[in-house]
Amino acid sequence: MTTVAKAVASYVCQSCGASYGRWTGRCEACGEWNTITEEAPREAAPKGLTGKPGRKLEFVDLTAQATEESERRVTGIAEFDRVTGGGLVRGSALLIGGDPGIGKSTLLLQVAAAIGSPNAGLAAGHTAYISGEESVAQVRLRASRLGIGTPAVHLAAATNVRDIIASLDRADGPDIAVIDSIQTMYIDSLDSAPGTVAQVRASAAELIRVAKRRGFALLLVGHVTKEGLIAGPRVLEHMVDTVLYFEGERGHQFRILRSVKNRFGPTDEIGVFEMTDAGLVEVANPSELFLAERRGNVSGSAVFAGIEGTRPVLVEIQALVSPSSLGTPRRAVVGWDSGRLAMVMAVLEARCGLAFAGNDVYLNVAGGLRITEPAADLAVAAALVSALSGIAMPENLVSFGEVGLSGEVREVSQRDQRLKEAAKLGFTAALVPARRGRREGGSDSPQLHEIGHLHDLVEFLGVEDARGRRRP
Ligand code: TYD
Ligand code: MG
Repeated sequence: MTTVAKAVASYVCQSCGASYGRWTGRCEACGEWNTITEEAPREAAPKGLTGKPGRKLEFVDLTAQATEESERRVTGIAEFDRVTGGGLVRGSALLIGGDPGIGKSTLLLQVAAAIGSPNAGLAAGHTAYISGEESVAQVRLRASRLGIGTPAVHLAAATNVRDIIASLDRADGPDIAVIDSIQTMYIDSLDSAPGTVAQVRASAAELIRVAKRRGFALLLVGHVTKEGLIAGPRVLEHMVDTVLYFEGERGHQFRILRSVKNRFGPTDEIGVFEMTDAGLVEVANPSELFLAERRGNVSGSAVFAGIEGTRPVLVEIQALVSPSSLGTPRRAVVGWDSGRLAMVMAVLEARCGLAFAGNDVYLNVAGGLRITEPAADLAVAAALVSALSGIAMPENLVSFGEVGLSGEVREVSQRDQRLKEAAKLGFTAALVPARRGRREGGSDSPQLHEIGHLHDLVEFLGVEDARGRRRP
């Protein structure tokens, strides 16, 4: 028998980095379509350890005093500091991903400026801002629009990693380095084009190595696109210490900075900003903002008391149910999981006898927030029942609770925090999961309506046999 040499993989998914021997339309590893492109084959892997012996490692006692490595640099932009877990850690690498035009460059320029102006008794730090996308003049123009005039931000337009490293790898190097964006950087000894997985990965690895050695915080900007021409930042996620995503609808002025990975702090923390003429402005109370445009007494609207990271956030959930002219009615969701919507609807149909069949159903989380908590189930169910029946939910009511397949409503975490935020914003009543035994509620707590099963919700709204069907 002959052994066949393994073909050198030369087709690489630009989203997750998986490699294949031939082109396929869909990446089996991450499920993305049209992300696989041809790349120059990589050099063969080294064949085990040969040659001179290695250097002996120096082990450190786990309980030995932490070094200055964990020192943080607070920016003074509270929303940014919370998401990073309390400021930028020396020698750490942070990736900030997001759609083009969402405001990544603006945010990092503002962060650089904030670090450049002494705050909270901290010495000002100096930032090297390296742009591979805009010229120095363009960045300067943007800075002047933002009213930033600190000499502590040093600008350069460059894309060659060799030059960048030469400028950063020095004793008098910067405290912070911003690379905008990693997709434009290239290493001249590699054949593939900038933006390919090989280039992005190698460039990031070199920059991270220098950051660790010199102790500056490295901020990498990464674009997320579906086209597959530019490497998705997902290939970088395991190389960096912190991954932040900057999200938002381009038409909305709200921007949400979300931590999806953080070696130095909590994940799922969010920071909320508003994009204005003068750049990004922090939003200290997001609930107020998400509820700002809410109109009372409209059917299909429910307020969800959610938790994002460590912070309670109230959002409006809107549903619209209208007779469909299509054979397969439409189900459209913005800001929530469509699978979860299908489940809540199925439970309402099977357990409460409500009929959505023959209707188009639209669900929207107002304000552009994306909710992932199962605790939103009850608010979604309330919005759906209200939209279907045309009966508006009481205006001063919030809801939270997870819905199970038999229609039962389950307890969720941080009940008190949710109720406290609701009370703070003037809500006087709440639909909450039923709780056996314990009764709670201080004098300032909203009035609680316990919902043990979706039947109770239907009853609460006064929707009785809306479709002339009997409930099982
Ligand atoms: P930008 O930071 O360039 O986005 P990214 O780096 O993520 O591609 O932001 C670009 C958008 O932000 C652009 O459409 C204009 C808008 N913008 C404002 O609305 N106000 C401002 O003060 C600035 C600087 C930008
Ligand atoms: Mg940019």
